Amino acid sequence: MNRRLEAIAALVRNGKGLVDVGTDHGYLPAALAISGYGGRLYASDINEAPLMAAKRTAEANGVSNRISFLLCDGLSLCPPEEIDTIVIAGMGGDLIVKILDEAEWCLDARYQLILQPMTKAEVLRYWLVYNGFGIDCETLAEDGGHLYQIISARFGKEIRLNDAELFAGSRFFSADKDLYARHLRRLSARFEHALSAMKGRDEGPRAGLYREISTQLTELERQL
Ligand SMILES: C[S@@+](CC[C@H](N)C(=O)[O-])C[C@H]1O[C@@H](n2cnc3c(N)ncnc32)[C@H](O)[C@@H]1O
Repeated sequence: MNRRLEAIAALVRNGKGLVDVGTDHGYLPAALAISGYGGRLYASDINEAPLMAAKRTAEANGVSNRISFLLCDGLSLCPPEEIDTIVIAGMGGDLIVKILDEAEWCLDARYQLILQPMTKAEVLRYWLVYNGFGIDCETLAEDGGHLYQIISARFGKEIRLNDAELFAGSRFFSADKDLYARHLRRLSARFEHALSAMKGRDEGPRAGLYREISTQLTELERQL
């Protein structure tokens, strides 16, 4: 496994069962089975080829009997009673939202959601907050020059995030303060770049957007 998947695995608590949605190569469920995860493991993918790859990974590691393979869209074939952990990693934040939105049963405090958006983390955090999820913790994994955001969430705890925190995550939930500071610096640089590309737009039709980005940049710098 790479560091990103290792960081995801580190958030998994031993329990009743786990589904890895969009498993692709199936490294995560295989690694969990090998490392002694005691519950049932489900690996799902919408495409047949990745699911076949996941089956090969399980076979090669002698853990086929521990994992059930589901060819389906999102959580549609996942048995809610058999699991307590849902992992959705390596997809865009908007796709993760779509998958969660289509499985209303996951709005239940018995499920720990471990989510790793590749893009649009702010869309995912907005959906979580808006739908009554609390964020237990967030962690960042550094791999190949990228910083990956990993969110552990559970239904039933009210939290508030300002706009900058929707993009960056809140420092209160962040496990590694050094990586979090680097993550904030990278985001600030992105916002600064957007502002300089919009130079002169602090008046006129784009003024609202300009002011919004400026406010978020100020908030990110305040957090830093
Ligand atoms: C980039 S891979 C991520 C693999 C793995 N989860 C990881 O983090 O390394 C994305 C996988 O999600 C699958 N996928 C995309 N949309 C999906 C959906 N709606 N339901 C289930 N799987 C999906 C793709 O077929 C692909 O195998």
